[in-house]
Amino acid sequence: MSSSDRFLLAGVMGWPVMHSRSPALHNHWFAHYGLAGVYVPLAIEPDGLQAALRALAPLGFSGCNLTIPHKERALAIVDAVDPVAQRIGAISCVVVRADGSLAGTNNDGYGFVHNILEQQPEWRADAGPIAVIGAGGGARAVVYSLAERGASEIRVINRTFLRAEALAREFGPPVAAMPWEERHRALDGTSMLVNTTSQGMVGQPPLDLALDALPAGALVCDIVYVPLETPLLEAARRRGNPTVDGLGMLLHQVRPAWKAWFGIDPEITAELRATVEATL
Ligand SMILES: NC(=O)c1ccc[n+]([C@@H]2O[C@H](COP(=O)([O-])OP(=O)(O)OC[C@H]3O[C@@H](n4cnc5c(N)ncnc54)[C@H](OP(=O)(O)O)[C@@H]3O)[C@@H](O)[C@H]2O)c1
Repeated sequence: MSSSDRFLLAGVMGWPVMHSRSPALHNHWFAHYGLAGVYVPLAIEPDGLQAALRALAPLGFSGCNLTIPHKERALAIVDAVDPVAQRIGAISCVVVRADGSLAGTNNDGYGFVHNILEQQPEWRADAGPIAVIGAGGGARAVVYSLAERGASEIRVINRTFLRAEALAREFGPPVAAMPWEERHRALDGTSMLVNTTSQGMVGQPPLDLALDALPAGALVCDIVYVPLETPLLEAARRRGNPTVDGLGMLLHQVRPAWKAWFGIDPEITAELRATVEATL
């Protein structure tokens, strides 16, 4: 059956899920391409994930995205996990295959890198040391994608040092863990700083990080996108550093998902960005 012969279904499973901007994003494309289809938020309790994923095929879904707290747990449920999701240790996108079986992948790192390349086309991961603040799920995707792009040194700094250490041990060089107390000094000589913690997100305090040691030309990225300009990005902009916000990471990861679900390669347009921004 081709995309035009049936009602296209996809969604995002999370708990909670109503904060997700993904429905606005995907439904913009259904309208843009004049396709009969819908992308729905699916509030799935952690214990219900297996049953919910197994219901995708019989309900006619092409697949779904996963958000907190399902990304890691899904690894043990789907029928196939690709090497990217395996390495990141989490699934962000599930694809229902022709035989009804489920394949898991992770497009977070793809979204992170392609967002930067869109906003800073000259950017290179091997331009110098990179400081990544945080060691959670977002950090794993960021570190994976930076290492894949040839980063020569990735300094992972996390409040809970053991977690940073575990990540560094797992990925090996060029990833190295640094203690939280060293975070201000860890920016010295870097070409890039990435916040992957929840700090700076609406309802959370700003990230406690002094930028004095950060070189003037270093690129500053935040994967938090509510607000669009986090206190970290604002401070970086004020001192003249180039910045990249986190919304594009969300937008860009939809591209590989749509290719896998519907065989369509959607464009990331200014109009799409404005549609999603309007929901923030
Ligand atoms: N733009 C995108 O597409 C995208 C994709 C994924 C995630 N995100 C955003 O990224 C953020 C993190 O998500 P996640 O999935 O990585 O969460 P996670 O796995 O729960 O990790 C949270 C991270 O934040 C740190 N943290 C929490 N509270 C802190 C505090 N008070 N001080 C210092 N560090 C603190 C944690 O450190 P500990 O280890 O010490 O607890 C951990 O490193 C969220 O805001 C999420 O919305 C955005």
